[in-house]
Amino acid sequence: MARILITSALPYINGIKHLGNLVGSQLPADLYARYQRQRGHEVMFICATDEHGTPAELAAAKTGEDVADYCKRMHAEQSKLAEGFRLSFDHYGRSSSQRNHQLTQHLAEKLAENGFIEEVTEKQVYSNADGRFLPDRYIEGTCPNCGYDGARGDQCENCTKQLDPTDLIEPRSAISGSTDLEVRETKHLYLKQTALKDDIDKWIDSQKGWPVLTTSIAKKWLHDGDGLQDRGITRDLKWGVPVTKGGEPWPGMEGKVFYVWFDAPIEYIAATAEWADDNGKTDADWERWWRTDKGADDVRYVQFMGKDNVPFHTLSFPATIMGSREPWKLVDYIKSFNYLNYDGGQFSTSKGRGVFMDQALDILPADYWRWWLLSHAPENSDSEFTWENFQASVNKDLADVLGNFVSRVTKFCRSKFTEVVPEGGAFGEQENALIADLTTRIRAYEGHMEAMDVRKAATELRAIWVAGNEYLQSAAPWSTFKEDPEQAAAQVRLALNLIRVYAVLSRPFIPDACATLMTAMQTADDSWPDDVAAALSALPTGHAFTVPDVTFRKISDEEREEWEAKFAGTRD
Ligand code: MF3
Ligand code: ZN
Repeated sequence: MARILITSALPYINGIKHLGNLVGSQLPADLYARYQRQRGHEVMFICATDEHGTPAELAAAKTGEDVADYCKRMHAEQSKLAEGFRLSFDHYGRSSSQRNHQLTQHLAEKLAENGFIEEVTEKQVYSNADGRFLPDRYIEGTCPNCGYDGARGDQCENCTKQLDPTDLIEPRSAISGSTDLEVRETKHLYLKQTALKDDIDKWIDSQKGWPVLTTSIAKKWLHDGDGLQDRGITRDLKWGVPVTKGGEPWPGMEGKVFYVWFDAPIEYIAATAEWADDNGKTDADWERWWRTDKGADDVRYVQFMGKDNVPFHTLSFPATIMGSREPWKLVDYIKSFNYLNYDGGQFSTSKGRGVFMDQALDILPADYWRWWLLSHAPENSDSEFTWENFQASVNKDLADVLGNFVSRVTKFCRSKFTEVVPEGGAFGEQENALIADLTTRIRAYEGHMEAMDVRKAATELRAIWVAGNEYLQSAAPWSTFKEDPEQAAAQVRLALNLIRVYAVLSRPFIPDACATLMTAMQTADDSWPDDVAAALSALPTGHAFTVPDVTFRKISDEEREEWEAKFAGTRD
């Protein structure tokens, strides 16, 4: 039995996430966590909301709430949606937790002790009307290059030119619109990533078998262009982890907080401590996942994230960990994803384009979405959600193949033999051929799940469902029954057992449907089909079952058209 630590990138607190966010980290992480638990391993699956930074402050200002209240409310909402999608986190924490405050402050102190922190004086734009410093992208004005009047302080969206806020003509605050701006000097802490470059370089080179997407992004940031830079880890904001030293405000940093990207990944660790606090466990119970001096040496740590997160997880967070010179666990494997697009364009949170997690669950159960999203995960390239494809996939894979198999077998048995596994006959050539085929396929499925090849795993699982259907079609117990009821009984017995096997194998993808199938088969035996022949006799003759309600319903053309129109527009 292995111990596997799994983290999903932490979703930003502001706003409900769309399906593209979901499939880029949390959902595939859940697939892997569920699979590994089913295979008997000890899993710790952690996620949390990423709560600090300007976007959270602004979102709260917009609703008129205090930022702490806003975050509390949104955390509850996101947590409810996570449950709705059956994301099986052991803990869904908050980066604003006391645990994260303490750990973030502790790691910054360690970094300073080891000479990796430097104080830098910077010039930054201060808005008198807003009473705060403005991050570059919250300063707007006219682009000196193309004349576009909505250019941001970091870049002109219109001509793509990279800008400094001071380049803008007639700059104004994007928060209040005020032009009463001035440039002030302010001091910040910098993490000297350049001093850790060799350590990081060596560490990345020593990783074997990371996905190409992960290593190529990491290498590009390490070696191309300006390479790895020192970076500011503090901000002039109110909401965040206060910059302290020895429990007191850090001299010269009074009133400042840590940069959101500094404290967010630390929350992976802190959330595991929150898990311990909430479940009556001790520090040793979470430290055995994270401290290599306290047992975490045997842990395999896997992170899931979208490709835009890779630099922070391959360079910045490891720099924090390594620079602390404390024995914290480093990640062993990073599974990263491309983007999911929406119907000929991009999902857009600001424009409300695409399907968001709450809306998805309002129209269909989680399993429908889980199946489509996972079987179309953007692994090797960006992928696209279209309603046509979604409809086809649900109607064919779930309704016609899996759902139909279950319904035909159980109903046929009920009508010809009653609702128990029928006795008589024996498995013959056809059944043995099916067992051999399923054995090969199930071993392949296990390999893909182990390797986190999500699409390949989905393809193999579908093929496993198809194999059952094809068997049923060619064995045709409804015909056999007329001449040889004993033989038909053996065929039905196998098929009923196959339903249980499907419920076990498919559970990481479609947990609710599988629970329904297990209930219908009236069994709690969820043992993995290591030996397929044995697994196909697990439900003995005479074992009672019930015919389940429709496992998956079809999506009609009218519904498809209605939803297509509904989600193209603006979310209010
Ligand atoms: N909130 C970030 C995003 O959605 C991800 C943060 S991951 C963490 O892109 F590790 F830094 F927390
Ligand atoms: Zn421009």
